[in-house]
Amino acid sequence: MTRVLSCIQPTGDVHLGNYLGALRNWVGGQHEADVFHGIVDLHALTVTSAPGVVGAATIDLAAWLFAVGLDPDVATVFVQSHVPEHAQLSWVMECTVSFGELSRMTQYKDKAAKREGDFISAGLFTYPALMAADIVLYDADEVPVGEDQRQHVEITRDIAIRFNSRFGDTFVIPVAVMPKAGARVMDLQDPTSKMSKSAATDAGLVLLADEPAAIMKKFKRAVTDSDNEVRYDRESKPGVSNLLDVLSACTGETPAVLAESYTQYGPLKSDAGEAVVALLQPVQARYRELMADPGELAALLHKGADKAGVVAKTTLARAYDHLGLVPR
Ligand code: TYM
Repeated sequence: MTRVLSCIQPTGDVHLGNYLGALRNWVGGQHEADVFHGIVDLHALTVTSAPGVVGAATIDLAAWLFAVGLDPDVATVFVQSHVPEHAQLSWVMECTVSFGELSRMTQYKDKAAKREGDFISAGLFTYPALMAADIVLYDADEVPVGEDQRQHVEITRDIAIRFNSRFGDTFVIPVAVMPKAGARVMDLQDPTSKMSKSAATDAGLVLLADEPAAIMKKFKRAVTDSDNEVRYDRESKPGVSNLLDVLSACTGETPAVLAESYTQYGPLKSDAGEAVVALLQPVQARYRELMADPGELAALLHKGADKAGVVAKTTLARAYDHLGLVPR
């Protein structure tokens, strides 16, 4: 059976880009493959310095993951820091990737540029090594991610191939899998940037927890252009194309076909907003139920960590063995 792994950081509120680009596909895939999904709290430490913040976000994210439909009896949903092998294998990955390769990561360059003058942790730079460890620990064949993570999966492949050629066949070489619709949801106020928790304002960021009225307001105020022509063209019409992409991800119809049914921007904005509200309503109801039962959430995460730990231990032991480290 195909092994699938993908993870998400607990760095604040979960947004529509996470949902359409990742979470929804995780749920769709859980009955077709053996799936592992991590809440990667150690990754979130790269940009966090206050106590308790990551922990609270971890619980919140766990509730969203089960609310969107991950079934704890089918999918292995776990917290990264509950499985110590992630940090252990990460060091091995750091020693298998070069400084130059890490320097070319666009996400590092973007994040470091945004933090100019601020504290830039070494972890922000070595982050792809930890991500590579997350992936290869589970012998993942496929890694479903949004477009923004493609480069990180590519470097994981490079690291795993290099390790295998130096130390013998150890890791499965993974491939990135992108969803057909929703792989790149853009900010509604700045449609040339991906929707992200680190945007300058929240006006273009649709959170899964947003009330219907707030979602409608954000869509109605979405930035478009001044030609008044509904056409799917990501290059020259990024705002309109993003609305068509979102509507497409919600309805299953292609953006080009959807474009033919609109002559004005107003109705496109409200239809996209309404489609998102309808998609999120049942998810929000389940999220509220789960957040009201922290004991149940903790038990589900415990079960996930136990299942993940079994696989992770085996892979780390194999890697240490192939490296030729002396067993204790
Ligand atoms: P993160 O936490 O930023 O995002 C989680 C998932 O959401 C996708 N995503 C988007 N998709 C479409 N449009 C957007 N605007 C958008 N924003 C985010 C991301 O592509 C991702 O699939 N480094 C990863 C976390 C990670 C990971 C891993 C992922 C750590 N280890 C191992 C896969 C496998 C990250 O920061 O994702």
